[in-house]
Amino acid sequence: MEFKNLLWNLEEEILTITINRADKLNALNADTLTDIKAAFEQAKKEKIKGVILVGAGDKAFVAGADISEFQGLDAQQSKALAQRGHDIFFAIEQMPIPVIAVVNGFALGGGCELSMACHLRIATPNAKFGQPEVNLGIIAGYGGTQRLVQYIGKAKALELHLTADMIDAQTALNLGLVNYVEADKNVAIEKAKSIIKKIGTKGPVAIAKVIECVNAYYKDGVDGFAAEVDAFGTIFNTSDVKEGVQAFLEKRKPDFQGK
Ligand code: COA
Repeated sequence: MEFKNLLWNLEEEILTITINRADKLNALNADTLTDIKAAFEQAKKEKIKGVILVGAGDKAFVAGADISEFQGLDAQQSKALAQRGHDIFFAIEQMPIPVIAVVNGFALGGGCELSMACHLRIATPNAKFGQPEVNLGIIAGYGGTQRLVQYIGKAKALELHLTADMIDAQTALNLGLVNYVEADKNVAIEKAKSIIKKIGTKGPVAIAKVIECVNAYYKDGVDGFAAEVDAFGTIFNTSDVKEGVQAFLEKRKPDFQGK
């Protein structure tokens, strides 16, 4: 795969996507968003157990949307920009395989939002999370007003959005925004790989349905309980169910085929 600002590394069925604009703290300009969209579309076509998303360098995961591209935007153009970000981040959130953000350094604005669109977050001790958009007189536009509430609740989410304060990795862990804090970027990537490998031993259809059903909780107009009943039924159409149950009864490891 050829990208302007991303590195694509597929090894042992784990895809590592590195946002590669370290000189601009991996800020999300239009080209980088295009790359992210294309990378996840391609990832869906490959035989992959999970995706790790990380920022190049040690200073930042992503320091936000590219502020230089905000100059001269009118209301219609900025709305289109936000919608584009929403569509791409929803596509990440709805991936049928686990997507884990390794947050090494700043995850601000669109960077915090991108990490929140991933299923899990593993931070390094130098990670800093924040939604500092009000410093620029704007607000979060890639889902941050919604997803931050989902992860840490209304009071703390409002505080972070209103004050533009950053929180460190340990605070993010205490608030439930990140799943783990690991010693450094390499250790965090290894941790992400071990989680993906563990999930990779489970039934792939079941994994996809878990993601779909948990996401359903947050979807307007969707009854998540009904979605779960539907998904439960759908899963029983797969041969993986027979294999999983049979393997348990025969006291052996299941050999899931993902169908
Ligand atoms: N958009 C565009 N460029 C950005 C950027 C962003 N969101 N964040 C950082 N950069 C660029 C800087 O302009 C600088 O580029 P230059 O070397 O060509 O001048 C480079 O990345 C390094 O950043 P710098 O500000 O020099 O690093 P720092 O260590 O002094 O400060 C931050 C780090 C993260 C505190 C600071 O870069 C910052 O506040 N960034 C914006 C964060 C933000 O508001 N994000 C939300 C946007 S909606």
